[in-house]
Amino acid sequence: MKRVVVYESQTGSTKQYAEWIARQIDAQLIALNECTASILQQADLIVFGGSVHGGSINGKRKFSKIAKKATANNLIYFGVGIRPSTPRTLELIRNSNFDSNSNVPLFYFRGKFDPDALNQSDKTMIRIYQSMLKRRRDIHQEDVELLDTMRYPCDFISEEQIDPLVQEIRNRI
Ligand SMILES: Cc1cc2nc3c(=O)[nH]c(=O)nc-3n(C[C@H](O)[C@H](O)[C@H](O)COP(=O)(O)O)c2cc1C
Repeated sequence: MKRVVVYESQTGSTKQYAEWIARQIDAQLIALNECTASILQQADLIVFGGSVHGGSINGKRKFSKIAKKATANNLIYFGVGIRPSTPRTLELIRNSNFDSNSNVPLFYFRGKFDPDALNQSDKTMIRIYQSMLKRRRDIHQEDVELLDTMRYPCDFISEEQIDPLVQEIRNRI
């Protein structure tokens, strides 16, 4: 059974999770910009992960096009962000990235963030996002926490977060 883990990562957290997953499930690891439809065509199982920016899973659109050409159907997705790992976070990411009737397996892992290391356009995006959240009248406790988290460098990466995804794959064998 051939397995492939494809990832899109800007600051390394998604890449780290992809490496751990590939090692645990004995899969080929490949960056999205090196991935082709023919690589995916040969795979029985494909895991795709991308960092979450503004709710969207980075690279998901590009990946979906390649995967569609490969007519891949055995897909598992994961997103990496700094939001707390809760059912609400998973739902927000699902709603922002998949059709309402999609039941594709989706997992979420916490990454890392350094406000001082952002490039100018990311800094602007974060500032817009922060002021958008602050203006909400009914701001959710998780968003209050997120605003706080974004003020300082943080690192929530840990290997055990991938356990449910690895288990899902093992259950299919
Ligand atoms: C411009 C920008 C937007 C972001 N938006 C979100 C977001 O909507 N939700 C979230 O949980 N994290 C968000 N983050 C945090 C990243 O998802 C986090 O830093 C992640 O670990 C990055 O993954 P990478 O290291 O693989 O690039 C954002 C970060 C940046 C720079």
